[in-house]
Amino acid sequence: MTPLTQADISAEIAERHAYYDSRVAAGAARLDSPLLDFAPYRSSILRHPTKNPRLVDPETIELASPAFGQRDVAAVESDLTVQHSGEPLGERMTVSGRVLDGDGRPVRHQLVEIWQANSSGRYIHQRDQHPAPLDPNFTGAGRAVTNDDGEYAFTTIKPGPYPWKNHANAWRPAHIHFSVFGSSFTQRLVTQMYFPGDPLFALDPIFNTIWRQRDRESLIGVYDHELTSPEWATGYRFDIVVDGPDATWFENESE
Ligand SMILES: [Fe+2]
Repeated sequence: MTPLTQADISAEIAERHAYYDSRVAAGAARLDSPLLDFAPYRSSILRHPTKNPRLVDPETIELASPAFGQRDVAAVESDLTVQHSGEPLGERMTVSGRVLDGDGRPVRHQLVEIWQANSSGRYIHQRDQHPAPLDPNFTGAGRAVTNDDGEYAFTTIKPGPYPWKNHANAWRPAHIHFSVFGSSFTQRLVTQMYFPGDPLFALDPIFNTIWRQRDRESLIGVYDHELTSPEWATGYRFDIVVDGPDATWFENESE
């Protein structure tokens, strides 16, 4: 079978977006989650949930907010550039933002976890064997706890784009994976932060599982010159809204 080309996938993305736009224009309810069975994202066809979500009754312990204190997460864990004996290669940057609820209130003392590829676009993972170098000074995982204002901050390097096997010549836009907890353990939310101006946005079936442009754009970090440190690091802001109409778009748990 001839492998699918980017043109095939781009046409499918356009077709699916047009379909959902027309449904909404005809009065259908807006979707409040990414498109789970989004055919251009090939593996989602096999992995997406096929039944409606079921409300579960969590154990009592799960109803309480995850209570991480600053002492549970070492400060060094939020600096991905100091986890080894040398410094990682790449563009050093600060990524900072606030975790907010639907009413704009800070979500305090919450664990924020990130994971990402190195500056060459390579993960330390068995399944990532594409010919880009590993960086012995970069693992690509970090943790931080939000402060009283709901703020978090990481120091890291800018990840590179990387190929994946969705179709011939498929490349993911550069991104950092984020996990945050909402008000309980059962509300772990996972999303990705992207970088402004990435030429791969329009081509990426994962980015385009979010069918509305406005919501896709909310996943793009904002370059902030005030956050940029002289002679040291560029700065990007990425706020995360855990619920309400302006909520950040999160992935399905199984992804
Ligand atoms: Fe990734």
